[in-house]
Amino acid sequence: MAEKGNTNMEKIVSLAKRRGFVYQGSEIYGGLAGTWDYGPLGVVLKNNIKNIWWKMFVEDREDMYGLDAAILMNGKVWEASGHVGGFSDPLVECKKCKKRFRADHVEGDECPSCGGELGEEREFNMMFETKVGAMEDSSSVSYLRPETAQGIFVNFKNVVDSFHPKLPFGIGQIGKAFRNEITPRDFIFRVRELEQMEVEYFVKEDTLKEHFEKWQKIMWDFIDIIGLDKEHVHELEVEAEDRAHYSKRTIDFEFDFPFGRKELYGLAYRTDYDLKKHQEHSKVSLEYLDEEAKEKIIPHVIEPSLGVDRTFLAILADAYREDEMGGETRTYLKLSPTIAPVKIAVFPLLKNKPELVAKAREIFAELKKQFGKVQFDDNGNVGKRYRRQDEIGTPYCVTVDYDTIEKDNTVTVRDRDTGEQERVSVEDLVQFFLDKKMI
Ligand code: GAP
Repeated sequence: MAEKGNTNMEKIVSLAKRRGFVYQGSEIYGGLAGTWDYGPLGVVLKNNIKNIWWKMFVEDREDMYGLDAAILMNGKVWEASGHVGGFSDPLVECKKCKKRFRADHVEGDECPSCGGELGEEREFNMMFETKVGAMEDSSSVSYLRPETAQGIFVNFKNVVDSFHPKLPFGIGQIGKAFRNEITPRDFIFRVRELEQMEVEYFVKEDTLKEHFEKWQKIMWDFIDIIGLDKEHVHELEVEAEDRAHYSKRTIDFEFDFPFGRKELYGLAYRTDYDLKKHQEHSKVSLEYLDEEAKEKIIPHVIEPSLGVDRTFLAILADAYREDEMGGETRTYLKLSPTIAPVKIAVFPLLKNKPELVAKAREIFAELKKQFGKVQFDDNGNVGKRYRRQDEIGTPYCVTVDYDTIEKDNTVTVRDRDTGEQERVSVEDLVQFFLDKKMI
């Protein structure tokens, strides 16, 4: 019954808007290309992704430290990191309509919009430049960070001085990054304001292979825990000419999005490039005293970098389903209970019967205390409520009816994927859901 449906983007975008997951940024003013706003359910789903990442990559590990660095950084950071000189994409402009395109997204030499002649290819720096403070000189120039990573590198010494960690250790952070993409596209896949979950893991050079492989495995574990179908994720060893300027090895984790196989995450070996560059430009020693070898070294870096927005889109694309139930076509999201924004919905069978509502409210309060993301829903008839909960991916619906209050203190629990219902005693309800591994 639970067939994988036609996961086309239009349907996903439409459901995301209709059900309050993702809205177009600045919509009432006609939008702003490359920006999206996460609605009430979107923000919960996004937080679920980030919380799982934080727990797995930072909190549960003794070798990891968390960070929340400023988005605005001294402009010199971006000169040192190589982003001022090298963070660019190839751009072509149409001589007739003046529209700009990423050169590697255009086939042939005609404008995809008006057919006009395209000009020479040139490099376009993707950082958003801004001025900090009231002075309008070059010292006030800064950039919205294009990756969270640099906030970690410039705090390397601070963390070492505060905590004296032994190698290997890492620093992780979640935060916004900004890229003036030439052609933002494919919904939240390529955006101008994005969110990243990044780890910079500092190792001795001779242990890098071992740690690279460990992080590779952790990334697969994360993919599994958030409920993505591993069959839809593929590793790609990135060729030298396609790697970022700092990387000696990169594996892309690609996902089968509805618009093709595209990068979901990256795992890079950044060598000692960034720490060395910051040491050179800041004139502050970023050497680490290796107490065993009694020598000062610049550690090498392994970087698992995961985009929140792309994770969100991959989850929606994988979860989107259409099937037939009760003679009707239905749409549902087959979200893993760990990620679903609503884990359980509780209904009174009839909205206008105070005794049913009171009992449903009591059960709702108990489940909410245990599982947090529980919704009380008495809007429309039960069939409509099921459809609505199916569309937002709620794994279970609990209905309170007259048997609950007059007969045997049981409720119906309906399974989203099969539509099957079973009666469960109210006393056993919490344990019933604990067994389903909802958290
Ligand atoms: N610190 C390394 C770094 O930033 P990246 O491959 O440029 O590497 C890492 O980006 C991840 O950030 C990507 O794998 C993707 O998940 C996400 N990402 C990058 N650019 C994006 C964009 N324009 N829109 C949405 N996500 C993006």
